[in-house]
Amino acid sequence: MSTTDAHTRVLDGRVVLVTGAGQGLGRAAALAFAAQGATVVLLGRTVAKLETVYDEIVRAGGPQPAILPADLAAAQERDFEALAQAIAGQLGRLDGILHCANAFARLSPLSQQTMEQWLIQFRVNTLAPFAINRFCEPLLKRSPDAAVILVGETHGHAPAAYWGGYAVSKAALEAYFRVQADEWADRPNLRINLVIPGPIHTPFRHRTHPAEDKSALPPPEALCPLLVELMGPQGQKTRGQVIAFRS
Ligand SMILES: NC(=O)c1ccc[n+]([C@@H]2O[C@H](COP(=O)([O-])OP(=O)(O)OC[C@H]3O[C@@H](n4cnc5c(N)ncnc54)[C@H](OP(=O)(O)O)[C@@H]3O)[C@@H](O)[C@H]2O)c1
Repeated sequence: MSTTDAHTRVLDGRVVLVTGAGQGLGRAAALAFAAQGATVVLLGRTVAKLETVYDEIVRAGGPQPAILPADLAAAQERDFEALAQAIAGQLGRLDGILHCANAFARLSPLSQQTMEQWLIQFRVNTLAPFAINRFCEPLLKRSPDAAVILVGETHGHAPAAYWGGYAVSKAALEAYFRVQADEWADRPNLRINLVIPGPIHTPFRHRTHPAEDKSALPPPEALCPLLVELMGPQGQKTRGQVIAFRS
């Protein structure tokens, strides 16, 4: 069965929140989810980028998305609570979350890193996924089939020199993932998985590897079939898994 057939769109009727939806993997996934019938809530920091993705979805004939501007580095507990209330109020349901928002300071030795850089990376990469999931949990629990996808990074799994606070924030995300997966283990209608992409051609990669020839790198769209599968009914049996993507 083709997943691109308009009559068999696997995410029809679902509402899916995508963070970091303005560029890179978040943008590609938002377009892919909408192409499969999902109403996508586009969350990000730069409204102009979210509006461009909104227009792309509408032009392609996808369900009208929603835009939720948020600076996850500054958001407080009450802001995360308001975010969940906005989704409940405007859309009435939530069936999935893909966490793609990504804060990265720069590659440098620990002796040159600052507490402020560490805090921002922790707030966006670790605390925001926890807080969004925590306040959206009541909505997710009401869905007949809810899926949460966290996005890790190789250096969170195997930390190495110069990745500093970024690697530590992603390692902490993996630890959070294991706690959350364990707590949701007995919930047949709510699952969480962690995807670790290999190198993909996004603006982030230009910051981590500026001199690299990017022509051989897969585009973020290469991951989208996996993300659609995990988000939809085909992913129901995949839960609590760390999934490394290699193109
Ligand atoms: N690219 C790779 O090679 C690669 C490899 C392994 C893992 N990954 C993982 O894949 C995920 C997505 O990466 P990517 O390459 O698509 O990243 P990206 O190009 O850096 O895009 C990140 C997105 O996060 C948003 N964002 C950053 N700070 C934010 C904040 N304070 N509040 C709200 N949104 C914020 C950005 O919004 P603005 O555009 O408005 O700043 C942007 O849309 C990350 O978890 C990353 O670790 C990527």
